Amino acid sequence: MQSREIQLIRRPVGTPVAEDFALVTRDVPPPAPGEVQVRNLYMAVDPAMRGRMSDAASYVPPFVLEAPMEGPAIGEVTASAHPDFKPGDLVFSRLGWREVFNAPAEALQHRDAAALPPSAYLGFAGSTGLTAYAGLFRIAQLREGDVVFISAASGAVGSIACQIARIKGCKVIAAAGGPRKKAFLEEVLGVDAAIDYKAEPNLTKALARAVKAIGVTGIDVNFENVGGDHLQAALALANKHARFAICGMISQYNVTDAPTVPKNLTALMTKSIRMEGYIVLDHMDLEAQFLTDMTAWHKAGLIRQAETIHEGIDHALDAFHGLFSGDNLGRTLVKLG
Ligand SMILES: NC(=O)c1ccc[n+]([C@@H]2O[C@H](COP(=O)([O-])OP(=O)(O)OC[C@H]3O[C@@H](n4cnc5c(N)ncnc54)[C@H](OP(=O)(O)O)[C@@H]3O)[C@@H](O)[C@H]2O)c1
Repeated sequence: MQSREIQLIRRPVGTPVAEDFALVTRDVPPPAPGEVQVRNLYMAVDPAMRGRMSDAASYVPPFVLEAPMEGPAIGEVTASAHPDFKPGDLVFSRLGWREVFNAPAEALQHRDAAALPPSAYLGFAGSTGLTAYAGLFRIAQLREGDVVFISAASGAVGSIACQIARIKGCKVIAAAGGPRKKAFLEEVLGVDAAIDYKAEPNLTKALARAVKAIGVTGIDVNFENVGGDHLQAALALANKHARFAICGMISQYNVTDAPTVPKNLTALMTKSIRMEGYIVLDHMDLEAQFLTDMTAWHKAGLIRQAETIHEGIDHALDAFHGLFSGDNLGRTLVKLG
């Protein structure tokens, strides 16, 4: 059995380039006792992988050079030398960026193939959905009637955050780049106001217009995925006692010089804003309740998953770059199986 995998061979400076990676083919032997062999069906790409390509200290260790990179994947067991797994089982792992692998049983988690399509476990029913759920409910303490501003709103986490906030009876102002994404936010996700930030020379003015258009005074919750000028706009339009859930700052991940905005952090004090960053891995205790809610919302037709699917491991880096160029919509996946 042969498998192809993507290795990081050099730590990128700024935006990663092709020379930082290698596509390597290796033999995969039958699983040893206690091991399970898995063929990945899909892997997901996450902006956080950019952080792991650097060797700066973070909440997860850097990728090891000249070893396959890691990331969420859903696959099918093809051979097993462990009693808890049998061929055909659907399994989640953090062993993406490779086609076939052997792993100890502890590295795998069963998923119910009858309940949801496999890719859902990398999206609304996986850590992407939990990130939106934990950020809105635990960090931002979402309440019915809140006005919620969501950045990178057409992406994996953002699109789920928009839908959860709508389910909870909130008004949603959503920002994304380009007319296709703006139309998706308005027509598919049904947000109250959408901003194409790429068409706006001043995002604060655009958010002020959106706030006025939906007849409110400002925002109560900021679900922040982008940082920079998006965060500056959210601070400028925040109501008193607004809650900011800092989920991500993708505008900063490839930056090599010092960030320049936001310049209005004083608003934290003058408006009594509570701003809190979080990492989904610290909120796994919410997973059971999250899955119950998500399954019910999905069954009721209230949650849908938009996906951008790239075919084949040789296109996995295109998928990753799409997160930063904005070519993606919804959850970005690579079909491997
Ligand atoms: N805290 C946690 O535990 C956690 C977990 C998962 C993800 N996150 C964070 O959540 C955010 C979204 O992640 P995701 O996986 O859902 O990715 P995603 O939103 O599906 O893809 C990233 C999106 O970011 C936007 N973007 C990229 N560069 C940008 C820039 N310079 N300015 C403005 N927008 C930019 C692009 O959309 P446009 O075309 O609209 O620009 C792109 O579609 C990221 O910041 C990520 O780090 C955090």
